[in-house]
Amino acid sequence: MNGVKHSNFSRYAWAVLAYNVFVILLGAFVRSSGSGAGCGSHWPLCNGEVLPQAPGIATLIEFSHRLTSGVALLLVGGLLLWARRLYAAGQPARVAAMWSMGFIVVEALVGAALVLLQLTGDNPALLRGGVIAVHLANTLLLLGALTLCAWHAAGGVPVQLPKGAPAAAIWLGTGLLVLVGSSGAITALGDTLFPAASLSAGLQQDFDPGAHLFVRLRIWHPVLAIGTGLYIIVLARIWGLEGQPAAVRRAALTLIVVVGLQWVGGTLAVLLLAPLWIQITHLLMADVLWILWVLLIAAVHPAPVAVTSSRQSVPA
Ligand code: HEM
Repeated sequence: MNGVKHSNFSRYAWAVLAYNVFVILLGAFVRSSGSGAGCGSHWPLCNGEVLPQAPGIATLIEFSHRLTSGVALLLVGGLLLWARRLYAAGQPARVAAMWSMGFIVVEALVGAALVLLQLTGDNPALLRGGVIAVHLANTLLLLGALTLCAWHAAGGVPVQLPKGAPAAAIWLGTGLLVLVGSSGAITALGDTLFPAASLSAGLQQDFDPGAHLFVRLRIWHPVLAIGTGLYIIVLARIWGLEGQPAAVRRAALTLIVVVGLQWVGGTLAVLLLAPLWIQITHLLMADVLWILWVLLIAAVHPAPVAVTSSRQSVPA
């Protein structure tokens, strides 16, 4: 009976993770379609109304993002309540559900700050770049916590990070990935606010000292992404060596392939001036890459068996 409860919870946790990825992609669509001001500077109301009357297209897009992210908040709240019923305090799935709740609340507050400070539409304020970078970083933390919750719920053993240099290597990779994501978010904002008419015009803009900071920063995202990608590939190669379980080797290989695909996707974004489908695919693959990174770290660093009890339940 307990097994059925656990596998239902595990399915729910994976579904909540997938749904949150969907909401994140919708958020990118709001930005790239310039619909961020679709509800005016009102939050949580939309143009001062609970349900917008006779909405235009920008209002519809912004409102649907708000609705779907509201549902995401409820789903994560449900995850936390369910985890509290199912697992004892301190059990990793329950701890990860708590972190997920914390990160999704921060996510909602950052989204609200964007709207209330009017950092939407064609506002090029530098503060907007900072808030967008924090938004993307928090998004990754949220996905990380949801991933760990689903992983533990599915029977993944508790994780114990190593000490010393191996731990530093993991934190460096994690920090670099967050930096790549945040710099990508600023690049995407620069592309949206200052679209280039052609590839050569865009490259000229990048090196024009008079261009907006978001445009001049654009060059750093690929540089960071290539360096970080190489670093991740080296770590994934080490973790996925012979002797590791087949699932770990497969995950390491998939991570390497996704890094390669991101490089190709990013290059296409530059060459084709980032059409919507590439923006969305590139963000989706960034999320997939991050989730694989978290899963691989978890799989390669199990806690010693003596202290391992992955499905420690609340007594019935
Ligand atoms: C490890 C590999 C990479 C990761 C994890 C990554 C991640 C990201 C993220 C999270 C965004 C923000 C998307 C959004 O907010 O809508 C982004 C945007 C972008 N990235 Fe990357 N990226 C990677 C590699 C690259 C490379 C190698 C290039 C170029 C050669 C590149 C070019 C771009 C461009 C042009 C955008 C803006 C697209 C737009 O206008 O929406 N990326 N990236």
